Amino acid sequence: MGMRETIDQLRETLEQELNKTDSKQALENLRVRILGKKGELTALLRGMGTLPPEERPAAGQLINTAREKFTAMLEARQDAVRMMERAAALQAETIDVTEPVPPLPLGSAHPVNLVMNEMIDCFTGMGFEVVEGPEVELDHFNFELMNIPKNHPARDAQDTFYVDDNIVLRTHTSPIQARTMLSRKPPIRVVCPGRVFRADEADATHSPVFHQMEGLVVDKDVTMADLRGTLNAFAERIYGKGITTRFRPSFFPFTEPSTEVDLTCAACHGKGCRVCKGTGWIEVLGGGMVNPHVLEMCGIDPTVYSGFAFGIGLERIAMQRYGIPDLRLLYEGDVRFLGQFR
Ligand code: PHE
Repeated sequence: MGMRETIDQLRETLEQELNKTDSKQALENLRVRILGKKGELTALLRGMGTLPPEERPAAGQLINTAREKFTAMLEARQDAVRMMERAAALQAETIDVTEPVPPLPLGSAHPVNLVMNEMIDCFTGMGFEVVEGPEVELDHFNFELMNIPKNHPARDAQDTFYVDDNIVLRTHTSPIQARTMLSRKPPIRVVCPGRVFRADEADATHSPVFHQMEGLVVDKDVTMADLRGTLNAFAERIYGKGITTRFRPSFFPFTEPSTEVDLTCAACHGKGCRVCKGTGWIEVLGGGMVNPHVLEMCGIDPTVYSGFAFGIGLERIAMQRYGIPDLRLLYEGDVRFLGQFR
């Protein structure tokens, strides 16, 4: 068989094979088989040595033309295969956006967060701004600037988690008051929700970690009546119409005068029941007028400005609101319990 026939035959084979080839890998195999170092066309080139010298140039030219032609054929098929593969991939990856999805299991907000969010909503509605502070706090802010003296029992390691001599896990949200007063000028109107820590044994009503929301207002002519009005609005918003406050004298180092604040028992609307032990009132928070000494330490002139502050425990409110009998339920993370607050 002459060179020309051999090449024609090779071309025919290539053509047939190409039409059957539909993957990149198979194409590459085919290229190696024909045009590779040990390929069939390359073998022809090698075999040229056996031809009489005068036939060699013509044969060489034939082979080279064939090589170019074959390469072009392979490339054309390569393009076609690439497009086919792309089309197949697109087909396979098609997403039917109209298909209904299986329902995703939704989480639910924690009862403490539910209460916190509602309170934030209530106070921001009255013009308060939400401010936060660090949970790991300097003794200076947690105690010193809150006018809590060195010998105060709250400072005892029995009650406070110390990180070192100067650093504690904050025992209340009140240090945020100090941070706020030091960094802003009156008028100040903030609420400060957050986690607080006390070295308490966990039981039905105690937990080493719980939540408070601090409120602070500092401006000219702020009085106890403003505190009362603010808390009355809060009481109605959170517990419903007809719920009001009762102030009882109390003591906090950072407020003067200080008050313990009771709310009308929401269970009996003040008539007296088991929940309020017959008194018609439930103790809910502490507050008072910001101690002038605290204002002064925090860079605010107490002869010009006055302020009120309050601190509310969120767990107690969540427990009352949702009828949760044991504080520990809030921290055990049992989804059967948590899933009820949808
Ligand atoms: N910081 C107080 C506490 O933890 C609560 C409080 C805040 C009282 C602000 C008065 C004013 O018990």
